[in-house]
Amino acid sequence: MKVLLVNGSPHKNGCTYTALCEVAKGLESEGVEHEILHLDNDTPGCNACRFCKKKGKCSIDDVVNDALERLDEFDGFVFGSPVYYAGPAGQLTSFMDRLFFASAGRMAYKPAAAVVSCRRGGSTASLDRLNKYFTISNMPVVPSQYWNQVHGNTPEEVVKDLEGMQIMRTLGRNMGWMLKCIEAGKKAGVSVPVPEEHAWTNFIRSD
Ligand SMILES: Cc1cc2nc3c(=O)[nH]c(=O)nc-3n(C[C@H](O)[C@H](O)[C@H](O)COP(=O)(O)O)c2cc1C
Repeated sequence: MKVLLVNGSPHKNGCTYTALCEVAKGLESEGVEHEILHLDNDTPGCNACRFCKKKGKCSIDDVVNDALERLDEFDGFVFGSPVYYAGPAGQLTSFMDRLFFASAGRMAYKPAAAVVSCRRGGSTASLDRLNKYFTISNMPVVPSQYWNQVHGNTPEEVVKDLEGMQIMRTLGRNMGWMLKCIEAGKKAGVSVPVPEEHAWTNFIRSD
């Protein structure tokens, strides 16, 4: 079992990375492998060209297509972001917009979580935004003992947020537990639900 941890901060070894490393410790204690993907700071946004709907990959050939190609290697996902003006970093949402749109449900039933790092405020608004990617994609959201946030302006400050560090480790362990439950369910013959045909209601009526 392997989990992809995405670092959406421009700081490769900053506060968000520090939080993700603590999640990794929790995963390791459950015997789950992980890989950290650090996004380049110039991840462009979605063109809304819908190329992906025909080709199954993004028209912008970058880290998103690399991730799409490797998606099946991962059983779970954690997306980490610094808080910018009470929201997640633009480069992470650019990455996630394109990844989720192009993946067309390939991440369904894989557990996911978001973690955020902030100096002081805006963490829960950021988490709310990030969690919406999962709950529209049939992805079980992994819980922790509190909302997944760390506080600090430097990695040195973040490690002093003892509760934040613990929340991250708990999240990693809970992700490991959830992955094992899913694996055990599969072995016992529990399959994912058969979806209904999708009903699209766009709130427009011609009559
Ligand atoms: C453009 C910008 C906006 C920010 N907005 C907020 C904010 O709304 N709330 C907050 O607590 N910290 C804010 N910060 C501070 C960062 O969230 C904080 O330093 C973060 O932990 C940095 O994580 P990193 O080291 O992984 O990049 C902001 C920083 C930048 C650069």
